Amino acid sequence: MTAAATATREPQRAGALATRLHTILADRGIDPHATTAGEPPAEPVTALELADARIPARYRRALADHPQVTDWADEIARTGRKGPGGAPGIAEGPSLLIVGPTGTGKTHQAYGAVRSLLAAGVRLRWEATTAADLYASLRPRQGHDPERALWTLGRCPLLILDDLGAAKSTEWTEELTYRLINRRYNEMLPTLVTTNLPIAELRKAVGDRVASRLAEMTERVLLTGADRRRHPAAR
Ligand SMILES: Nc1ncnc2c1ncn2[C@@H]1O[C@H](COP(=O)(O)OP(=O)(O)OP(=O)(O)O)[C@@H](O)[C@H]1O
Ligand SMILES: [Mg+2]
Repeated sequence: MTAAATATREPQRAGALATRLHTILADRGIDPHATTAGEPPAEPVTALELADARIPARYRRALADHPQVTDWADEIARTGRKGPGGAPGIAEGPSLLIVGPTGTGKTHQAYGAVRSLLAAGVRLRWEATTAADLYASLRPRQGHDPERALWTLGRCPLLILDDLGAAKSTEWTEELTYRLINRRYNEMLPTLVTTNLPIAELRKAVGDRVASRLAEMTERVLLTGADRRRHPAAR
């Protein structure tokens, strides 16, 4: 998953999204081409199905099964503000820092948590990006407004920031990470951060100001065990 507001990737994403939505409709026996604005589909497509179209294929059936992650999703669902249709939405809330070695299921837990919230009927605007994709999308280039991309990710009600600390760190990446995390810290917006790095190394990679904010705003979830990719029995 890439940063949502990446100008060059938007058309590709929109195309991929349309393809997946067509697949969902086709699975339900609805011909996407035959449906017109005046003809509602026979069965409504649920928020979870629509979200599935935005979730990378590998995590589209992910179930969050770590107790701290399920507790977090329960709390967010419980404390959400009621929206216009009566469904709870996300306002302020706690965040998680999911830490663990490669392949222990960090990204799986993060997408699984989003799916739990959607399945619980929470109205949810969410974005997901890896830190590396974020920096790539914010590199200055003509015809693209990086401030807008950062603004979108800084303010969206729920953000998955995957693989923090994995990209090569520079003053520029530190500053961007600081601005993003500081915005979400100030506004107390729920954020699911994942990292491969032990905490002391993460501090070195993202800088003290980011590490300090993460320490206060997140609950730490430690994943252990074998690399599930190399040990399929662990999946
Ligand atoms: N709880 C789980 N149940 C079933 N499969 C899982 C579970 N957790 C992870 N997996 C599977 O294990 C593999 C690795 O998981 P994932 O990509 O989430 O690891 P990761 O910790 O994010 O790794 P990395 O640090 O390399 O990003 C994936 O194929 C994922 O679908
Ligand atoms: Mg991962």
